[in-house]
Amino acid sequence: MEKSGRVEPIRNVEQHVMERQRAYHPNATGEFSWLLSGITLATKVIADHVRRAGLRDILGGTGAVNVQGELVQQLDVIANETILACLGYRGNVGIMASEEDDEPHIIKDFDDHSKYIILFDPLDGSSNIDVNVSIGTIFAILQRRPEIEAGQVMDHILQPGFRQVAAGYVVYSSSTVLAYTTGDGVHMFTLDPSIGAYRLSRENVRMPAKGDTYSINEAYRAQFPDGIQAYLDWTKTKEAGRSLRYVGSLVADFHRTLLRGGVFIYPPTKKAPDGKLRLLYEANPLAFIAEQAGGAATDGRQRILEKTPKALHERTPLVIGSKADVDRVLSFWKS
Ligand code: AHG
Ligand code: MN
Ligand code: MN
Repeated sequence: MEKSGRVEPIRNVEQHVMERQRAYHPNATGEFSWLLSGITLATKVIADHVRRAGLRDILGGTGAVNVQGELVQQLDVIANETILACLGYRGNVGIMASEEDDEPHIIKDFDDHSKYIILFDPLDGSSNIDVNVSIGTIFAILQRRPEIEAGQVMDHILQPGFRQVAAGYVVYSSSTVLAYTTGDGVHMFTLDPSIGAYRLSRENVRMPAKGDTYSINEAYRAQFPDGIQAYLDWTKTKEAGRSLRYVGSLVADFHRTLLRGGVFIYPPTKKAPDGKLRLLYEANPLAFIAEQAGGAATDGRQRILEKTPKALHERTPLVIGSKADVDRVLSFWKS
């Protein structure tokens, strides 16, 4: 409550989308805001599970291995099913594709109403679940391509990142924070558990032009390209004055980079020549956010958002963060 006793307006995600849409698209129908409310609902449910995981015996693996070849955690499944359930009934979603599922889900045959395509990583940073380290959810939203026949499902999904109509993430940490962009800046909301609503906490977030941290798993150093190894040598010089921060959850490492500046790098390795991170539902959404906040995201050769995906679960090298820091990595990598 303000001192005057007047209640501060509660600007939640849906309200914010509507406000911005009305400002820029007077004939906005509100169906986009309705769609995002499916994401806020799902991530509130996931946040509740994450917060109580140790009490509900939902920690640990399921014993299954997913399409990524990774051990599936119970919370991966819970998060995945929650998002499918909450978004699958919004009525305006045609296709959903998850990191956890081999194939996309056809929710509804496309019609003028069900034109949205949701690509998502339901739970990012799964290796950190059991040790109470920040984890997250990442989502990208595309629209079906009207010129493509409805049944050509993969043609609707495999669109370059610059065609995303929205993207965002939720980081489940000391607080639960949702960040999203629809191409009109990056806006952040903090979940207020006392009322169960995401409240606007930062509008038009700008990534600092440069930062003093770099974020990379140096354990794989010997497998990195020579240029990346040269960059890592430079970071340790007095002139560089860099420090290393690596959580092991992309969402947490990216959120810090967005707010503090710096650079996150997941280069190609001998084991993963295309890098480990997935283009469609990890690199693309975060690249959209990064660029909207004034940062940059590249695979070492081109903008992430310009890459034309060839497969649903394809991976990409990723260098993302403050423009000056990304350019610094490229100057070593390309030399
Ligand atoms: P996910 O849990 O969705 O599979 O993602 C894990 C990813 C990403 O969150 C993180 O940056 C990266 O794996 C960490 O990989 P390493 O353990 O190889 O460093
Ligand atoms: Mn992930
Ligand atoms: Mn995941």
